[in-house]
Amino acid sequence: MVKRGFIFDLDGVIVDTAKYHYLAWKHLANELGFDFTEEQNEAFKGVSRRRCLEILLELGGISVDETQFDRWLFEKNEDYLSYIDKMDESEILPDVPKVLDYLKHKEVPMALGSASKNAIPILKKVKLLSYFDTVVDGNQVSRAKPDPEVFLIAAEKIGVPPERCVVFEDAIAGIEAANTANMISVGIGAEETLKGAKYVFRDFTEIEIDFIKQLAFI
Ligand code: BG6
Ligand code: MG
Repeated sequence: MVKRGFIFDLDGVIVDTAKYHYLAWKHLANELGFDFTEEQNEAFKGVSRRRCLEILLELGGISVDETQFDRWLFEKNEDYLSYIDKMDESEILPDVPKVLDYLKHKEVPMALGSASKNAIPILKKVKLLSYFDTVVDGNQVSRAKPDPEVFLIAAEKIGVPPERCVVFEDAIAGIEAANTANMISVGIGAEETLKGAKYVFRDFTEIEIDFIKQLAFI
């Protein structure tokens, strides 16, 4: 039987780090004299750190030179890392281990496909690194989601053709990337936000193992 490969986004799918990204960007925006809402933060999900700062500065009507830009990038990441530093297994999103355990037990190839450059330290913090056959993150891709590069590299590394890969994503950009890669997209979040996904679940507590079983072995 030919198996499918499973690719998981990290932030907002496996761990709730989206809230820490939001807090760190909001902190920087407030320092620069403007507010940053959770609604505006939706557009930051799945998007590279650099691109996020560009959007933030556009929102604040601020233009800066490269040196200041890099300083703010660094500052935001330091702030973000102060939250990450305190993370442990309790921050794994509900029922994620149920799905990872099942797939691991069935020896289904699994990859992480994230835009984050902090993916490995986070996976280590929450003790999930060993579940993944490969980790493709922001350090290895040159084109950010919605470009499918991150998922295509992940598929190649686990040796599964793209059309046999299932992608779990909480970001609009990530669903678009999965669809462009010709993969099966599973949105985690609000249905109105993730309209383009083939399947959408509010979170992993809504996902039955039977559904995973069907996806894995069709
Ligand atoms: C994505 C997040 O996973 O990683 C984005 O959804 C974030 O919000 C991006 O900007 C880059 O993360 P990092 O950890 O490299 O700043
Ligand atoms: Mg995400």
